[in-house]
Amino acid sequence: MSAQIIDGKAVALAIREEIGADTARLLQKTGIVPGLAAVLVGENPASQVYVRNKRQACDKAGMTSWLHQMPADISQSDLVKLINQLNADVAVHGILVQLPLPSHLDTAAVLDAIDPAKDVDGLHPDNLGLLADGRPRYLPCTPQGVWQLGVRSGIEWAGKKVVILGRSSIVGKSLALVLLQKGIDATVTVCHSRSNNIPGLLRQAEIVVAALGQPRWVTADMIQPGAVVIDVGIHRLPDGTLCGDVAYDEVARIAKAITPVPGGVGPMTIAMLLLNTLRAAEGV
Ligand code: GUN
Repeated sequence: MSAQIIDGKAVALAIREEIGADTARLLQKTGIVPGLAAVLVGENPASQVYVRNKRQACDKAGMTSWLHQMPADISQSDLVKLINQLNADVAVHGILVQLPLPSHLDTAAVLDAIDPAKDVDGLHPDNLGLLADGRPRYLPCTPQGVWQLGVRSGIEWAGKKVVILGRSSIVGKSLALVLLQKGIDATVTVCHSRSNNIPGLLRQAEIVVAALGQPRWVTADMIQPGAVVIDVGIHRLPDGTLCGDVAYDEVARIAKAITPVPGGVGPMTIAMLLLNTLRAAEGV
């Protein structure tokens, strides 16, 4: 058996075109152009690429974006001061602070400083709290992208045993909340990296979401034949190639469907950032 390859790039492009059309309608009706302020601290090459791609996607959808490139040694108070300025700027509907931040900065305190109404990443505690309470404002981009990618690729979540590898706020924990919020009757297990017998848990899963941050960690012997495998990881190997958390070639031989890296979840994260920015501009 050879897996269906879930084409995140194509799905994301279709969503971005829909968002572009809605953005043009918003402009025509109200004169508002959605605006995203991206804050990038330091010179992390991967973060530079992600922010460039996010800004290009804004541009193509007819949105405005601004890059605030800050030095790696910026102080906590100067960074919070910048965020307060962006909070007060009416042209800025969404604020994105690209993570990770340098270790001298307090990431939680930085995210706390963002106006929750402009938190288009969905990572502010107010927005995560609303999501946990079942009345979400902005869904975090990667979990929302994983959900949408499944839905638009014909993956049925309802009734499934879903195992999520990784419990970060940015992916694993909030994906579990998104799946609960959708009201589907999936059974969701979230694994810690030191959970007992992860391979045994994975082998019972009908849908696996890998977000543990270890290159090619999930191997074919951990996957039930016919499972759906969604890979959130992205790593650059010493030879320059990109790979995910899943050993793609061997797992693709037994899975029913699998997301590639690159071209799977990554483009969906960007499409969902645009969607949240459009909703922020609409005043949702
Ligand atoms: N770093 C890796 N993924 C993300 C994301 O979705 N948002 C932000 N802000 N930083 C990231």
